[in-house]
Amino acid sequence: MKAKLILVSLFCATLYSCNQAGKSSPIDKLLQQQERFDTLINGKQNTLYTLCNSKMAVQITNYGGRIVSIIVPDKNNTPTDIVWGFESIHDYLKAEDVYAGPLVGRYGNRIAQGKFTINGTNYQVSINNGPNHLHGGKEGFWNKIWDGQLSKNDAGEDRLVLSYFSPDGEDGYPGNVMTRVTYTLKNDNALQIEYTATTDQPTPYNPTIHPYFNLHGTTSQSTNTHYLQVNASHYTPTDSVLIPTGEIAPVEGTPADFRTAHLIGDRTSEDGNDMMKFGGGGYDINFVLDKTGEDISRAATLYEPSNGIAMDILTDQPGLQFYSGGCINGTDLGKRGDLHRRYSGLALETQHFPDSPNHPNFPNTILNPEETYRHTVVFRFYTTDTVPQQH
Ligand code: BGC
Repeated sequence: MKAKLILVSLFCATLYSCNQAGKSSPIDKLLQQQERFDTLINGKQNTLYTLCNSKMAVQITNYGGRIVSIIVPDKNNTPTDIVWGFESIHDYLKAEDVYAGPLVGRYGNRIAQGKFTINGTNYQVSINNGPNHLHGGKEGFWNKIWDGQLSKNDAGEDRLVLSYFSPDGEDGYPGNVMTRVTYTLKNDNALQIEYTATTDQPTPYNPTIHPYFNLHGTTSQSTNTHYLQVNASHYTPTDSVLIPTGEIAPVEGTPADFRTAHLIGDRTSEDGNDMMKFGGGGYDINFVLDKTGEDISRAATLYEPSNGIAMDILTDQPGLQFYSGGCINGTDLGKRGDLHRRYSGLALETQHFPDSPNHPNFPNTILNPEETYRHTVVFRFYTTDTVPQQH
């Protein structure tokens, strides 16, 4: 009996099926097929990993650690795939938007003109976004094949550990960095992602993950119908190329005030507010989370009233970048024929503040030898009939 149970759970963790006891589950219909991801890239094996519990499933490819699917039940128990993705590795490789779901780093978000100074030495990393460096640059984590290891933790939960060695000088960053990201699908319908890293020279380090969420489960419906609540009384204003001015400003009286839940689309029109202009007519802002200490706490909640799906985001990080998709241009065709169009996916990224290496008043993002970088984010899913309002 015991051996049989182990076989069933191994089957779940290794193949693209979440079936229990030989029965096909309704979730299976939404899963992507592993065969379409099995290929060699630069001599390294790429594949697709599937994590399951009794209610939901998550798929991740080791090409950039991309989240390919997050399938959760809606209020009628209908499985709903609430992130963008593609049906094959080839679609990912030819996509115009390379940030559909991946790990980004070493530095998530922007570094002004790709320049920073550590202990008197000037560094230049690649420029890949207007005049600036974005998401780790051309040689960022999103563009690497990570080593993958599937297992179960002590609670019997499916877990994927991805690791990557980033050599000294990669994309211009100093230091050999050993980095590891652990994705765990928790029994209480949460996806937990834990980052750790060490280095042998001081280096800026601020990785995050960039899934585009759409709680409708299809890009034919806009994310502007979602409600967002963020535990942030402040944000970091930027210039027109989204580099922080250095100020930490109150959200009160601005479109960034989500201290109580607010409809995202309510304030995305070009209303003369600079904040909205810089994000292509929508949001592209860093919230300064109301936190004391480094404990994991709830940062934000996203909610779609029509199907009742809610997602809490919990983290130990000081910031949350909210990009509402104002610049998405409708070129890429994703899973199930979903066109990636403007406001059809949004990103909520736990991280340190953009361009921190050039702002001494922002929390430190330099990782030193002898230190271990740690970052946890939990995406917790449930359904409810009322807009979550808690602060
Ligand atoms: C940034 C946006 C950028 C997007 C790319 C977000 O994290 O804040 O400015 O366009 O990533 O997908």
